[in-house]
Amino acid sequence: MSEMTTPAGTLPAGGAAHAEHTAPLRRVRVHHLREAKERGERITMLTAYDAPTARIFDAAGIDVLLVGDSVSDNILGEKSTLPVTVEDMIRHTRAVTGAVRRSLVVADLPFGSYESSPEQAHATAVRLMKEAGAHAVKFEGGRRVAEHVHKVTQAGIPVMGHLGFTPQSEHALGGKRVQGRGDDAAEQLSQDALALQEAGAFAVVLEMVPAPLAERITEVLSIPTIGIGAGPACDGQVLVWLDMAGMTDWSPRFAKQYAQIGAVLTEAARAYAQDVRSGAFPAQEHTFAE
Ligand code: KIV
Repeated sequence: MSEMTTPAGTLPAGGAAHAEHTAPLRRVRVHHLREAKERGERITMLTAYDAPTARIFDAAGIDVLLVGDSVSDNILGEKSTLPVTVEDMIRHTRAVTGAVRRSLVVADLPFGSYESSPEQAHATAVRLMKEAGAHAVKFEGGRRVAEHVHKVTQAGIPVMGHLGFTPQSEHALGGKRVQGRGDDAAEQLSQDALALQEAGAFAVVLEMVPAPLAERITEVLSIPTIGIGAGPACDGQVLVWLDMAGMTDWSPRFAKQYAQIGAVLTEAARAYAQDVRSGAFPAQEHTFAE
């Protein structure tokens, strides 16, 4: 649908219309996400960690690109999200913001860079906006970081919350486990979601939360919920792109693979190696005569 025929407030045109340049380009802004929720229009979000994939997802019409601290285990080869630094996040966020034309780019505040005070959260968020060109930041936690969210949003920086299974607390949570099971835990999680909204967050990620609880939170909040392993009722969905595209040996049960890019790359690398060994590559057309 081109922007000309799109009702005001709907997410700016993306995907085919954008790729074919049939629609004037409009950036996705945080208010578009809230308007999308009001209209019952689902929000799409994927992680991105570098320029080439960001360019592809942007042109494909993905509304939000998350430069997740999952860059740590998915790209940098670490065992968890904990080792990634603010400098790592700035480098990867810059690559993504430099490549997109439409998508809203959200950068994660890494472990240890925001928890100790609202001032620390503000200082790190400012670095991601100023040095990396992020459009918004995300950090983990509910009521314990509500003041941090307030401080950062008051400074004009949009904040996305993250509740449920929060990977930076993996050791405290006892591993990758569904959160919010049972009445008490569900109540705590709902209170956290409300606290984030009151503190000024523009959206909240719900990770590994039972679908009925995610549905209740989605109904209660006026800001959008973005689910990952939280069922179909959330206002949007996010996946780690390597899980979505078949780039990993293992992917979580809640992820769906839409391609087998890992297998395609393996075949390409094998074919290249075979050509080099046989002398078929480089051929004349790949060679400078003089
Ligand atoms: O870092 C990340 O990839 C995330 C998503 C799982 C939401 O926070």
